[in-house]
Amino acid sequence: MSETVDVLLGSRSYRIHIGRDLIKQAGALLAPLAHGVVPVVTDENVARLHLEELLASLRSHKIDARPIVLPAGETTKSFKSLEPLCRELIRLGLDRTGLVVAFGGGVIGDLAGLAAGLVKRGIGHAHIPTTLLAQVDSSVGGKTAIDVPEGKNLIGLFHQPRIVIADTELLSTLPPREMRAGYAEVAKCGAVGDAEFFGWLEANALQALLGHPVALGHMIAHSCRMKADIVARDERESGERALLNLGHTFSHALEAATGYSARLLHGEAVAIGMVLAFRLSERLGYSPKGESERLAHHLKTVRLPTALADISGGPPEADAVLQHMKHDKKAERQSIKFVLVRGLGRAFLTSDVPEDAVRSVLAG
Ligand code: NAD
Ligand code: GLY
Repeated sequence: MSETVDVLLGSRSYRIHIGRDLIKQAGALLAPLAHGVVPVVTDENVARLHLEELLASLRSHKIDARPIVLPAGETTKSFKSLEPLCRELIRLGLDRTGLVVAFGGGVIGDLAGLAAGLVKRGIGHAHIPTTLLAQVDSSVGGKTAIDVPEGKNLIGLFHQPRIVIADTELLSTLPPREMRAGYAEVAKCGAVGDAEFFGWLEANALQALLGHPVALGHMIAHSCRMKADIVARDERESGERALLNLGHTFSHALEAATGYSARLLHGEAVAIGMVLAFRLSERLGYSPKGESERLAHHLKTVRLPTALADISGGPPEADAVLQHMKHDKKAERQSIKFVLVRGLGRAFLTSDVPEDAVRSVLAG
């Protein structure tokens, strides 16, 4: 059983396919888009577990697939990996009719998508996301980027994929901690704009995270549909799309304050960040009291962290987190923008947040 979600962007529209064992159909789905050599960019973990099966599917449809296996981890999203990857795509002879396949989590998707966007001013690419985070968030919407010492995701461009194939079965090998971290982005969809979906998650998320195929498929498809609709209305984040950054003003600072280390995964930081954004909304009188507790309670049931005190190795200093928030935005020449809520499912954007209020929610 599989579902599809369309991202409607005129001539750059594309389809997201979601379902079990779709990797077996990858050859058939990609064949109409593939011309000549097709590089398959992946990381060493995904290669070890799933590459053979993908290559078999592609080759059974006469696709000349060439794996490019990179080290796993965030440090691969760097100029150090981008340059050799771009040069390899050129050496393989890709032109604008070519197709690059990104087979991995958000790291591989962001890097390979950026390389595809840059080489010869834009080669087509396909996402075959292998983490929950990538299936519900990073493979959809065309954001690509690498990190630089000045900050995360600061070098990038919008380059929409031509197709996304999300095989939910691939998630069975994902470490549980990564699965939970990806789930933070699912809960975010409900918290931002869909209280009914949040209610569904309260009842069904645990089953979905344990791999129940119907619940897992529905959870991913619903999240993709919500993101696809927002991207169709605001591809370049001039307004509504920024709501998808709920919790991210805090989470980026928390990741920086913990050195982008295994102490805190991106999704875990988003979980804490969302609870802080809800608390801030209550403190400023925008949201009814109790909504932050409802969110925190739900995130705890799936064993996500919800407070600074939950960070392994001890909580970072509130002052250090605040400094990171300011520094990030200085690097981007923007004021600190917050996504706040008027209750579950009712997010809005504002820059008008007193520093004292931020400091007090950070202090707990
Ligand atoms: P990731 O790509 O590093 O994957 C996490 C870990 O899981 C890695 O060790 C990877 O090797 C492993 N892995 C991947 N698939 C696996 C599988 N099926 N089985 C076993 N192990 C597997 O991290 P991520 O959480 O997928 O993505 C995080 C990145 O995504 C960050 O760089 C973030 O900035 C980016 N991101 C981008 C967007 C966007 O819109 N472009 C949105 C959200 C996040
Ligand atoms: N992850 C937020 C976005 O794609 O806009």
